[in-house]
Amino acid sequence: VPALRVEAVTEATPEVVEAIGRLVPQLSSSPIPTNDEIARIVASGATTLFVARLASDGETEGAIVGALTLAVFTIPTGVRAWIEDVIVDESARGRGVGEALTLRAVEAAELAGARTVDLTSRPSREAANRLYQRLGFHPRETNVYRFEVSST
Ligand SMILES: CC(C)(COP(=O)(O)OP(=O)(O)OC[C@H]1O[C@@H](n2cnc3c(N)ncnc32)[C@H](O)[C@@H]1OP(=O)(O)O)[C@@H](O)C(=O)NCCC(=O)NCCS
Repeated sequence: VPALRVEAVTEATPEVVEAIGRLVPQLSSSPIPTNDEIARIVASGATTLFVARLASDGETEGAIVGALTLAVFTIPTGVRAWIEDVIVDESARGRGVGEALTLRAVEAAELAGARTVDLTSRPSREAANRLYQRLGFHPRETNVYRFEVSST
C-alpha cells in the first residue's frame, strides 16, 4: 500500500468536510466552507477537489493531510485550467504531498484537454513558489488584478 495517495473527492463526507475545515485556515482567513459548499465543489463539472492521504506506520488508510482544487473551463482561446487553494497540513509538509497534489492536478487538466494550467502564489510563500517552479511552472508576464466585491 503506497503511503501517499491522491484522490478526487466524489462525496462531501464528514471526513472531507473536517479536513478542509482544518486545512483552509492554514492558507487563508476566509471562512471555512460548509458541508453544502463542499458538496457544490464536488458536484460541479468545472471543479475537482483533490485530497492527499498520508498513512503512518501500520496504517493502511491514511488521514487527509492536503488538498487542492482544480478548475477547468472552456473559453474562446481553448480549454484552460487553474489550480487553487493548495494546502498541506503543517504536520505533513516537506514530504512531497504538495508535489503529488500538483502533479495529479496537472495530469487531470491535461486529460481534460487543457492547453495551460495557471496558478498564482504570493512571493512571500517561499515553499510554494519553489515547489511550482521545480514542477515546471514559470512566471507569466502579466498583471494579476482583483475586484473586491463588497459583502452584502
Ligand atoms: C506550499 C505547500 C502546499 C507545500 O506543501 P509540501 O507538501 O510541503 O510540498 P513539498 O513537500 O512537495 O515541497 C515543498 C517545499 O518545502 C520544503 N520543506 C521542507 N520541509 C518543510 C517543512 N517542514 N515545512 C515547509 N516546507 C518544507 C520542501 O523541501 C520543498 O522545497 P523544495 O521545493 O526546495 O524541495 C505547503 O507548504 C503549504 O500548505 N503551505 C501553506 C499554504 C500555502 O502557501 N499554499 C500555497 C498557496 S499558493
